[in-house]
Amino acid sequence: MTILRISTQPIEGQKPGTSGLRKKTQVFMQPGYLENFVQSIWNGVGGVAGKVLVLGGDGRHFNTEAAQTILRMAAASGAARVIVGQGGLLSTPAASHLIRKRGADGGIILSASHNPGGIDGDFGVKFNTANGGPAPEGVTARIHEASTRLDHFLMLDSADLPLSEIGQHRLGDTVIEIVDPVSEYATLMESLFDFDAIRALLGTGFTLRFDAMHAVTGPYAREILENRLGAAPGSVRNAVPLPDFGAGHPDPNPVWAKPLFDAMFAADAPDFAAASDGDGDRNMILGRGIYVTPSDSLAVLAANAHLVPGYRDGLKGVARSMPTSRAVDRVAEALGIAAYATPTGWKFFGTLLDAGLATLCGEESAGTGSDHVREKDGLWAVLLWLNILAEWRMPVAAMMADHWARFGRNYYSRHDYEGIDSAVAATLIDDLRGALPAMAGQTVAGLAVEAARDFAYTDPVDGSTAHKQGIEIDFAGGARAVLRLSGTGTEGATLRVYLERFDAQDTGQDPQVALAPVIAATEELAGIAKRTGRTAPDVIT
Ligand code: G1P
Ligand code: ZN
Repeated sequence: MTILRISTQPIEGQKPGTSGLRKKTQVFMQPGYLENFVQSIWNGVGGVAGKVLVLGGDGRHFNTEAAQTILRMAAASGAARVIVGQGGLLSTPAASHLIRKRGADGGIILSASHNPGGIDGDFGVKFNTANGGPAPEGVTARIHEASTRLDHFLMLDSADLPLSEIGQHRLGDTVIEIVDPVSEYATLMESLFDFDAIRALLGTGFTLRFDAMHAVTGPYAREILENRLGAAPGSVRNAVPLPDFGAGHPDPNPVWAKPLFDAMFAADAPDFAAASDGDGDRNMILGRGIYVTPSDSLAVLAANAHLVPGYRDGLKGVARSMPTSRAVDRVAEALGIAAYATPTGWKFFGTLLDAGLATLCGEESAGTGSDHVREKDGLWAVLLWLNILAEWRMPVAAMMADHWARFGRNYYSRHDYEGIDSAVAATLIDDLRGALPAMAGQTVAGLAVEAARDFAYTDPVDGSTAHKQGIEIDFAGGARAVLRLSGTGTEGATLRVYLERFDAQDTGQDPQVALAPVIAATEELAGIAKRTGRTAPDVIT
């Protein structure tokens, strides 16, 4: 087989964002687009000759074609071995686990996470390093830099591989090992949780529903929840991964997983429900008649993880992204462990997990995970909840009431304004940044601003820094607003407004009502309606 050296030119905009490079599927399908970026990854990480890589994706449109191309490119550049999920599928946490378990040098995950798929949707490519986690900023910067200097890529002139056939194949001198995407991951879950206790809970008539949203978690959830734990057949819904996710939006939140949400507020609701996203790293948790916000979920999991075999020795520390509510900080304080606040994006948790400073991490965007892998992990969060419920044997709503009675409640909501003009969005943030020095001491819409900052972070392990990570405004009484622009969108700008208010006593209010003063003060400071013409957010979570 010949190695083709194909001339190319740099393509502008191949700059990884919050989580890899995300573009419209049709952009990735343009001749040379994917190839340029993959060669830039190889160049940015010092080549792949002799290296072992993991490859898989969430099954969205172009997944298989992209996998074949990447295999040809890995072989052309001399990779020793590529471990591929059967059919080119791997959930993000399963890919992270495989990289770690097999001691691979890194891996590529094909996904745009919760963004819609299909030919008119989004596609994405993410590089993970040898610890199994998303490449840190230094690495993504080198990849981007390589993309700006690219003049050729290498491609093996070879036929497609049968990705459905488990076993060892060869592509030139490279071994391509096709593995079952589920089994190693399921074994890892069995090692962390008390499957007998969960099985016993399910045996008491406890009912559950899991919505895989036509995305990659379906096969994992079926195997673990139905086959290994004995949940009733059909408990896992929308379990077959589809290239366009059934024309849906595979984002597990009250808006995009509305059918599940509604079902949990109906008279015949199951005891517990959950959903995951396109690539299986997000989770949404619901009980009968209650939605648990991701921030609260993180706090509850932190408070109860010691009940579960994998965390019996307690947590070393917890970490949350800065915009995530401070509910988990209260738990950490009670446990006497450290709580870290990092910039948005899972890549910032990697060093804390590697150094043993944090065991549990979470983001308000439905991401929760632990040191078992280096990605957030949707199904893991569901199993941790089930294992804790198996110990508590009480309804989710009662557990939450109990938690708030003990720690107080951090009312929390995120308001997203999508597809707004990029220049308008940038000016809004710039103007807030400019107003920061004079903000503390002002009273806006009846709320006193105590402090305000442009969030910057110095990694406590490697000293790397990140700046301009969001405008954070502290109001009196533990209320807070954070404003930042999304780094994962592919059209215009998305303004995210994160709202929080602590209440130690009155824990039973509707969050939007409880947050009304913070919403009003934020509007007065940022002028969202005036600048964007939008009077209400597009998505409230
Ligand atoms: C969003 C979430 C962030 C998450 C990322 C990848 O990024 O807000 O927490 O890590 O997706 O799943 P954003 O679009 O806000 O940059
Ligand atoms: Zn995801």
